[in-house]
Amino acid sequence: MSLIIKIEKLKFLLKKYSYFYYNLSSPLISDLEYDYLVLILKKLEKKFISLNSLNSPTKNVGSFLSPYFFKIKHLTPMLSLKNIFSMKEYFIFIKKIYKKLNYSKKLNVSCELKFDGVAVNLLYKNNKLIHAATRGNGFFGEDITENILNVKFVPLYLFGKNVPKLIEIRGEIVLLRSDFLNLNNYYKNKNKNIFSNARNAASGILRTKKNNIEFLKKLIFFCHSYGYIKYFKNHYNFIKQCKLWGFYVHNSIKFFNSINSVKEFLNIILKKRYFFQFDIDGIVIKINSIFKQKILGYNRVFPFWAIALKFNSNKKKTKLLDVEFKVGKSGIITPIAILKPVNISGVNIKKALLYNKNIIRKMDLYIGDFVILVRSGDVIPKIINVIKSLRKDVFYIRFPKFCPICNNKIIKNKNNLYYCNAGLNCKAQLKKKFLHFVSFNGFNIFGLGKKNITLLIKNNLIKNFSDLFYLNVKKISFFLGIGKKLSSNIIISIESSKKIKFSNFIYSLCIKDVGVVMSKKLAFYFVFVKFFLLIDINDKKLINYVGINVVKNVFFYVNSIKNKKNILNLINVVNIYNENKETKYLKNNIFYNKNIVLTGKLNKLSRSKINFFLLNLKANVKNFISKNIKLLIVGNTYGKKYEKAKELNIKIINEKEFLFFYFKYKIYY
Ligand code: IVH
Repeated sequence: MSLIIKIEKLKFLLKKYSYFYYNLSSPLISDLEYDYLVLILKKLEKKFISLNSLNSPTKNVGSFLSPYFFKIKHLTPMLSLKNIFSMKEYFIFIKKIYKKLNYSKKLNVSCELKFDGVAVNLLYKNNKLIHAATRGNGFFGEDITENILNVKFVPLYLFGKNVPKLIEIRGEIVLLRSDFLNLNNYYKNKNKNIFSNARNAASGILRTKKNNIEFLKKLIFFCHSYGYIKYFKNHYNFIKQCKLWGFYVHNSIKFFNSINSVKEFLNIILKKRYFFQFDIDGIVIKINSIFKQKILGYNRVFPFWAIALKFNSNKKKTKLLDVEFKVGKSGIITPIAILKPVNISGVNIKKALLYNKNIIRKMDLYIGDFVILVRSGDVIPKIINVIKSLRKDVFYIRFPKFCPICNNKIIKNKNNLYYCNAGLNCKAQLKKKFLHFVSFNGFNIFGLGKKNITLLIKNNLIKNFSDLFYLNVKKISFFLGIGKKLSSNIIISIESSKKIKFSNFIYSLCIKDVGVVMSKKLAFYFVFVKFFLLIDINDKKLINYVGINVVKNVFFYVNSIKNKKNILNLINVVNIYNENKETKYLKNNIFYNKNIVLTGKLNKLSRSKINFFLLNLKANVKNFISKNIKLLIVGNTYGKKYEKAKELNIKIINEKEFLFFYFKYKIYY
């Protein structure tokens, strides 16, 4: 492709991306990718100066103007800020300023947060808000006056002294992270598209014509600068006055009389970064004196008296070298991206999860593609974008037909997930299931990590969970190649794990969707393992409590002959106790710990069943009515016992009432 066509193609793409970003609040590519493409375009344009037209995305601030909004001309252009990424670049910026000002004394600067929001211009004339506009293309913005009236900290009138006849107040409209998450949840529940970040959400809300007052009220206007302005000497005075007028200026803003203080400010903000309730992507440094600002001036895109020192991105570009397939503990085949190693915030990243086939196809990802990788905090690295414009020699990602570990045929389930159903016969699944079994929330056995479990499996010492309990010091030390002391520590740990909480026992079985919380719920519900094994797939109460999926998963798990055998073998060697035996739930029932007498025959239940039920509720079944009896259950005969109970004012229930409680508490026996 000739370079001229390349430039035109890039321009077209960038304009399209810009339109989706600013006008539709729904970016097609990440900021990083956009910046990267602008950089390429800039380089190409340098080579072909004649093509360097004014309407290039490298020369413009902001977006196309949406036809759905009235246009408003800003009194002074709304510029962007030049981005830098290091203190070194900051000192270069300062050096240029000294040179241009021909100045040698100390410079006063302001340091502020760089809010990741929507830039807005507010025009006040004769104390009154006349209109509000987005940045638009920098010269004309979109009229959002109607919507701005509901945004927090946008005063309708400016009261007090020093109100100029005409002033443009500028700032950022921001949505708090918590409100952004709530909003997305709301949209998700309505099956609508969600926003990719708080800035896009703020932009979407602000530019919606529908009646969305509830959402608009969540938006906050952070005041940070001005457009048309007169009579102010410096930024400090301007900010002080804005606060008095009722604008919200974030209290992190600091004024320094030394350019070197910026470093300390940056360090403080870097530490606080994730504690702010809204997104920021750097700090902004401004020369305080408005007189000096005027001397320094600006170009078409940014002023020379302010700069944005952006945080190092947690996103990087890298190349997808290959895709490997991992077999999970439930047999699900997960594609793993093998990447050209890249360092993101000090961590070398070579792999990333690709989740499933649908995601790969939706991303339109090929082996050999350049991708944008993200890693924020402790989040696992994730590919968030494919740079299709850089695509060259690429290969289609094919899913395997056979399990890469056991060669079993791979099956597709109804959720379009691929899995190997060889279960414990697949060594990958066996290993992962054992690791799960011995983990902290399961049997909590020490000394059996990945390496040792692999060795035990390899030597055919463990095929089923219960096999672990038949190991001895000799076997362990021989097959794991470790000393007697270490081996006996492992055996001690295995032995002491035998006394296990019911919930931990359930967790250890590795049932799909049954994690720590669900195991606790199931243990609470069933109390005893024997009733857990008798789980009823139609148990409405249980379905309400844990959801139909978990009920199904547990039902099919315990009803597989192999699993049942496995559990029974385990029960033989371990000692399961239940921390929930006397839960509040149980204690609240009318039979708990009470002296109870039965009289007559019940039509629906045998005496032994009733006795068993009551005994499990810690009730004492007595033969005679006395003062100590708290309850009489009456069957088909209203004889002497009934009369006496009435006399002593003892609570009496009939078969129908008893059955009501029986079915209510049946789960406990
Ligand atoms: S001053 C002429 N201060 O960042 C420069 N801008 O990427 C006027 N921004 O267009 C802007 N926080 O919308 C300024 N504390 C801050 C800011 C800030 C965020 C936005 C602003 C600007 C964009 C540039």
